[in-house]
Amino acid sequence: MLYSSIFAACALPLAFAAPFCTRQNSTTNGTATCDLSTVSQPANALTPPSSDLHLILIAHGEGTQNYTCATPASLPSAIGAVAELYNASCEVANPSEAQNNIVQAAAIGNHFFADLTTPAFDIPVLGNAKTKKVEEVAAPNPSADIKWLRLQAQTSNSTSQVKYIYRLNTAGGLAPTSCEGRAEGEVVTVQYQAQYWVYV
Ligand SMILES: *[C@@H]1O[C@H](CO)[C@@H](O)[C@H](O)[C@H]1NC(C)=O
Ligand SMILES: *[C@@H]1O[C@H](CO)[C@@H](O)[C@H](O)[C@H]1NC(C)=O
Ligand SMILES: *[C@@H]1O[C@H](CO)[C@@H](O)[C@H](O)[C@H]1NC(C)=O
Ligand SMILES: *[C@@H]1O[C@H](CO)[C@@H](O)[C@H](O)[C@H]1NC(C)=O
Ligand SMILES: *[C@@H]1O[C@H](CO)[C@@H](O)[C@H](O)[C@H]1NC(C)=O
Repeated sequence: MLYSSIFAACALPLAFAAPFCTRQNSTTNGTATCDLSTVSQPANALTPPSSDLHLILIAHGEGTQNYTCATPASLPSAIGAVAELYNASCEVANPSEAQNNIVQAAAIGNHFFADLTTPAFDIPVLGNAKTKKVEEVAAPNPSADIKWLRLQAQTSNSTSQVKYIYRLNTAGGLAPTSCEGRAEGEVVTVQYQAQYWVYV
């Protein structure tokens, strides 16, 4: 199968510029404040999390949205995404401490598609959440960034307590506008970044 990549020179917000790091101050030895209980989502038109839900993680995802071209005359169609997930809870909860970070974080998990309509999140400390998209809205800059989503975890085949995941603050990832010049069945991967706000 033929693969091609678009390394979109998307103007990433500053917060996305570098790979994410743990936001732990060396002198505070990992006790940096990263209380998520008072953190609010960036303004958006998705149904907000109900009051019984608790935000337990803000993951930064970096990877690709994948599309395929059936023929050069067809429109690209989405076939899923793959991304590595990093723990961005502290830097979102307490951006003023972000500059104190000294440790490069390892990925805490992976995002992939279990099938075409099942975005999955495998985060070993939380378990595996298989989700379904229940709502979507255009990103603030829809000509550059993929949509913001509300995903609901499926009780069957999930091993985590996660109930909802919001995809917010997206950057890049849009499908090419046409399949012109592409081979039949070509897979096009487009780089993207997003925050995944995880609720239990
Ligand atoms: C930092 O954490 C390590 C491991 O938990 C501990 O051994 C060490 O005493 C801590 N240092 C300070 C200054 O708190
Ligand atoms: C999507 O693209 C990635 C490369 O970023 C690749 O590893 C993965 O297998 C692709 N998945 C599908 C379903 O095409
Ligand atoms: C994310 O980092 C914070 C602060 O270090 C930590 O308390 C939390 O357990 C981490 N979450 C995950 C899912 O790794
Ligand atoms: C860690 O935090 C303390 C207290 O907030 C601050 O004074 C200090 O400059 C920070 N240290 C580093 C290495 O960032
Ligand atoms: C759960 O996983 C099993 C085995 O992978 C599969 O056969 C079944 O269809 C899945 N059920 C749902 C509801 O996704």
